[in-house]
Amino acid sequence: MIRLAPSILSADFSALAADAARVERAGVQLLHMDIMDGHFVPNISFGPAVMKSLLGKTELPFDVHLMIENADSIIPEFVTERTEYIVVHQETCVQLGRTLDLIRDFGVKPGVALNPATPVSALDCVLAEVELVLIMTVNPGYSGQKFRPAGIEKVRRLAEIRKERELSFQIEVDGGVSLGNARVLAEAGTDIFVTGSSLFGAPDAAEWVRAFYKAVS
Ligand code: DX5
Ligand code: ZN
Repeated sequence: MIRLAPSILSADFSALAADAARVERAGVQLLHMDIMDGHFVPNISFGPAVMKSLLGKTELPFDVHLMIENADSIIPEFVTERTEYIVVHQETCVQLGRTLDLIRDFGVKPGVALNPATPVSALDCVLAEVELVLIMTVNPGYSGQKFRPAGIEKVRRLAEIRKERELSFQIEVDGGVSLGNARVLAEAGTDIFVTGSSLFGAPDAAEWVRAFYKAVS
């Protein structure tokens, strides 16, 4: 089943709870949290306190995307009863297996993200240890950037490997996802679609979600 994970980076920060509730009512399955440190990416977003402030405002599980260096020390702060995934970047983790174990030991599903310039082969030795692989289709840091189509082939390759090795990780795509590219991404094997500006910029979120599911069905 294909899931939608709106990135609250594109929400109205002064009305975060209302925006989260709005997309929840529209029928999405996860809330994507873009955590940025100003080092790994050239932007600073928000931290665990802001994320936790949404706990009582929505029932949606959290999909935490850490675009930060030295993730290990702050990972515990993102563990809540609603945290389904914590996703770290391959480019930031010198001992990736250790970081994935740390996340799993908290009872959270570990995921790993790849920047557009990092090949799928960089994950060859850890694919059996992850619950999710996130393919970035923009260089991380900002919402509203242009989709980089090279990610489509990476999704296809990952889906092939998953089948060959009989693995079951989810494939997530993040960056520039729109109603225009959803179908080709779904056909390539995407399970979870992160969407920021396209959904939050739509006049009617429920209508956008209906159009999305029509496009991918
Ligand atoms: C980029 C973030 C994305 C982004 C998505 O660094 O990881 O989640 O906010 O926003 P759109 O869909 O507008 O590219
Ligand atoms: Zn993200």
